[in-house]
Amino acid sequence: MKIYYYGHFCFAVEAGGKRILFDPYVTPNKLAKDVDVDEIPADFILISHGHEDHVADAVRIAKRTKATVICNYEVSEWLMKKGLKNVQGMNHGGCGSWDFGRVKYVSAVHSSVLPDGTYGGNPGGFVIESRDGNFYYSGDTALTLDMKLIGESVRLHFAALCIGDFFTMGVPDAIKACDFIQCNNVLGVHYDTFPPIRLDKEKAIADFDAAGKKLHLPRIGSSRKI
Ligand code: NI
Ligand code: MN
Repeated sequence: MKIYYYGHFCFAVEAGGKRILFDPYVTPNKLAKDVDVDEIPADFILISHGHEDHVADAVRIAKRTKATVICNYEVSEWLMKKGLKNVQGMNHGGCGSWDFGRVKYVSAVHSSVLPDGTYGGNPGGFVIESRDGNFYYSGDTALTLDMKLIGESVRLHFAALCIGDFFTMGVPDAIKACDFIQCNNVLGVHYDTFPPIRLDKEKAIADFDAAGKKLHLPRIGSSRKI
């Protein structure tokens, strides 16, 4: 599947003929200064939770692209108050179908509040099933046994997993998560953006490799097939 990486947890996937963008956080990210936020295409924008480093550019991109935004109920209410109309608020365990495929909002162990202090509901991740392949996007989360349920029910082509530690899983727990979700093809995200989540990238790739798993760490602004 083709992915586009914009830094932190922001990436896009081509699936079902649509461009699906996740957790838009570009303009505040110094590491993504060469990415033009006003050039990022999106047919759908999926948001895992309300933290600034996941929603910062959501309204700006959604207004320009007219993308449908899919997120949890509380974040959807906040986005509609910011002027977005095409927003679909889900909650944990629920599935929805759109023309690119099927989306399930799954649990994450983390916290969630919107940048202005508005309650953000509970954070989550997404499992996406499409004709081009299935994938899991963990959102910010600790390692959780709930991930085993994903591995038992869906055959994943790849997973976007947080690996930066401190706020989320680090590399050792992300490697365990691969076993839970039964997927060894990983896009690593949520690292390097802030000092506490600086990552030794060579070591991370070697640690995944030693466990028989492939870790992709694309350059910010690049795309690749994974
Ligand atoms: Ni967060
Ligand atoms: Mn985060």
